[in-house]
Amino acid sequence: MSFLAINHLKKSFGPTTVVHDFNLEIEKGEFVSFLGPSGCGKTTVLRMVAGFETPTSGNIIIGGKDVVNLKPNQRNIGMVFQAYALFPNMTVAQNVAFGLKVAKKPQAEINATVQEMLSLIKLDHLAERFPYQLSGGQQQRVALARALATKPQVLLLDEPLSALDAKIRVSLREEIRAIQRKLGITTIFVTHDQEEALSISDRIVVMYEGKAEQVGAPFEIYNQPASRFVASFVGTLNTLDAVVRDAATGIITVDGKDVQIGPRLNGHKSGDRISLAVRPEAVSLGDATEKRETTLDGKINSVHFLGSVIRIRASLGENIVSFDTFNNPSAPPPEPGENVKVSLAAKDLLVLGH
Ligand SMILES: Nc1ncnc2c1ncn2[C@@H]1O[C@H](COP(=O)(O)OP(=O)(O)O)[C@@H](O)[C@H]1O
Ligand SMILES: [Mg+2]
Repeated sequence: MSFLAINHLKKSFGPTTVVHDFNLEIEKGEFVSFLGPSGCGKTTVLRMVAGFETPTSGNIIIGGKDVVNLKPNQRNIGMVFQAYALFPNMTVAQNVAFGLKVAKKPQAEINATVQEMLSLIKLDHLAERFPYQLSGGQQQRVALARALATKPQVLLLDEPLSALDAKIRVSLREEIRAIQRKLGITTIFVTHDQEEALSISDRIVVMYEGKAEQVGAPFEIYNQPASRFVASFVGTLNTLDAVVRDAATGIITVDGKDVQIGPRLNGHKSGDRISLAVRPEAVSLGDATEKRETTLDGKINSVHFLGSVIRIRASLGENIVSFDTFNNPSAPPPEPGENVKVSLAAKDLLVLGH
């Protein structure tokens, strides 16, 4: 049985329902991200798990026990917020000790735990500093240590990296993941950043308008998106208009060229207009080099030289695709307006459902 189960969770504020029939099961030690645009209900679900918000209906089971009627401090949950929520008048060590003091632990145990937590986040040397003497990244590490000090059974992180600059975000997310693995603590990490969610999660819950649109491992969410929303929100996505030429044999027409896509046309009949989702990695510049690729005529719209990677936008008839090529020092990139050949890997085209 799962360690944390959220069943038919619903939350309305007055007449507005912001979380609809949300269901999720999380295994012990798992790292699950909630990924979705601002306002889709991520924080509201997290706050219900933590006990800061009461569900309109549904239940939340942690370790076999329904916690919906328990107060936040009875749930044994650690939480880290986006904004630095450290106590400004307390040192790092006092901040980390806070929950243990409230729980009236013996002083010797508090000292030992604070020491253990500070070495876990590698800030032993800053124990006597105050929050204003720390960088944003250091403050979030202290917030993490404070959340973990009481040995919670679940760790909840609500966009803990979004106030930090890009480089720190990447190193801190890896540090959070490493600490989470080391402690084996069941974790929910909220983010609106798809790269963040893809890079550190065991599983991702893609949320949209208060619902879980898809739950799956990062590889699955990215490569087999269950809906048009998931396909477009997770990763860069090109959509191409196409027409089914022969549903039985799986042939479609894209910009006047036949593309054999095989048995992915379930439910469509010849003559239907369909939308195809194409990841940038299924598109390349130049003639097709493999049998399962189709070459189309394109015209370059824009070229952005980013260093190791060159980002290209090109028109294919009515459609526009965006894709990347690697820099090649001996072959300069094409120019805007240039006519080029663009090849599509037919096996990587997704037929979009809804
Ligand atoms: N206390 C509240 N009263 C009324 N509406 C709220 C309250 N808290 C959140 N909401 C609304 O619920 C929706 C989801 O918010 P939230 O869970 O914060 O989204 P996210 O964290 O995904 O950005 C938003 O439309 C927000 O305005
Ligand atoms: Mg939020």
